[in-house]
Amino acid sequence: MSQEGRERADDEATAPDEAPHQQARWYAGGQYEPLLSEKSSESVDVDSSLPDDLTRDELELPSLVEPEVARHYTRLSQMNYGIESGPIPLGSCTMKYNPSFTEDVAAHPGNRVHPLRADEDKQGILHLLYELQETLATIGGMDAVTLQPPAGAAGEFTGIQVAKAYHEANGDDRSEVIVPESAHGTNFASAAMAGYDVVELPSNEEGRVEVDALEAAVSDDTALLMLTNPNTLGLFERDIEAIAEIVHDAGGLLYYDGANLNSLLGKARPGDMGFDIMHFNLHKTFATPHGGGGPGQGPIGVGEDLAPFLPTPQVREAEGGYETYEPTHSIGRVHEFMGNWLVLVKAYAYILRHGDEGLENVSETAVLNANYLASQIEYDVPYGPFHHEFVASANADAGDVAKAMLDHGVHPPTTKWPEIVDEALMTEPTETESKRRLDDLAAAFNAVAAMDEESLAETPTETTARRIDQATAARNPRLSWHALDE
Ligand SMILES: Cc1ncc(COP(=O)(O)O)c(C=O)c1O
Repeated sequence: MSQEGRERADDEATAPDEAPHQQARWYAGGQYEPLLSEKSSESVDVDSSLPDDLTRDELELPSLVEPEVARHYTRLSQMNYGIESGPIPLGSCTMKYNPSFTEDVAAHPGNRVHPLRADEDKQGILHLLYELQETLATIGGMDAVTLQPPAGAAGEFTGIQVAKAYHEANGDDRSEVIVPESAHGTNFASAAMAGYDVVELPSNEEGRVEVDALEAAVSDDTALLMLTNPNTLGLFERDIEAIAEIVHDAGGLLYYDGANLNSLLGKARPGDMGFDIMHFNLHKTFATPHGGGGPGQGPIGVGEDLAPFLPTPQVREAEGGYETYEPTHSIGRVHEFMGNWLVLVKAYAYILRHGDEGLENVSETAVLNANYLASQIEYDVPYGPFHHEFVASANADAGDVAKAMLDHGVHPPTTKWPEIVDEALMTEPTETESKRRLDDLAAAFNAVAAMDEESLAETPTETTARRIDQATAARNPRLSWHALDE
């Protein structure tokens, strides 16, 4: 631990005259933060502050014996389709198999250290965080990494906040973020949430960024260009160096959406292409759980000039070990502690198990699989050659094609996006699928391609649920067992 760190720990150890559990909380943040239970008893009258309609005297819990509960959940799991049932070729979403050895690593009792413990009590944890941070920086060609954001979209939002703080610190008042039309919806949303005006950039006839349009779009107002490379059509932005120059000449920064990094591992690095900020979707690139938008992890990497603005705390080497610290111009916290710690453990285990060669093999196989599948299906597949994904045109309602594929026991691709391709079937088989599985997928695609529109509209016929009202399912989900009685 550094001299500074040791002095701080000494001060904190002597400052309060508190019970041991309270001292632990002093150590954590430099000042005493009462536990929720302490806050409640001190200042909140629970009985009178809760509205009557939100309180109840009796909890109506279902009362069942264990075997029935086990059977119920086993039956539900059999009605479901997951990556352990077969491929999930959702383009952009990158649903690859999560190897089970990472579960064993995450289950190690050594990982169960309370995050409020002092730095000197959790050196092993800090060591892992530091190594992961540095490894990601190397993979991305970045100078500094924060592991904190809990998903890719949260990484985007954090990265934009960092860019904003950087511009503000330079007295630079910029109001616009440029986003290509093919970008993921979260890019537009993150920029808007951060208070920027979003400028949409058209693609050229090759499906890539239109450089002339970019030149016309940049100005003194440009804070950032957000780009994913390869883009959502699976195409590498070959003009990336010219693009970076245009944005930098205008005083803007270049943001890399790392969702497609699984096709570049060991081959090319965003930092070397001129990107200043990037996020890593650990679930897409290093096979960690994602689960409905989270909990995942979306660390961000930045260049040297932006490092002082990263969220706090960061981990660094100190005399004889590691310590946490606050970067000088930190934007603050974006998540409790370091985010979802065990997801980080799994990503680190995945990277170590693969090593340099293994990671290169991941991206080579992802690219090979996408191009093989694209060559096997009887749909129009514009553009190409591809990296990790391709977008076919359904020549019918893409939603109907997706439903029909369910009858062939496979999961359909992402549909109707990006809009550059008519009735898009955005397909990403990932590197974890064998040739046999790719052939099964191609057979399902091709069987559906031969169906007429009327029969397509009747599908699915073989699934547990037929067509559900997707809007109602999303807006009015029935999540309680009580709803079964309705
Ligand atoms: C291109 C792209 N960017 C960003 C995201 C957002 O990532 P996350 O789902 O981790 O929030 C996704 C997610 O699918 C994506 O495909």
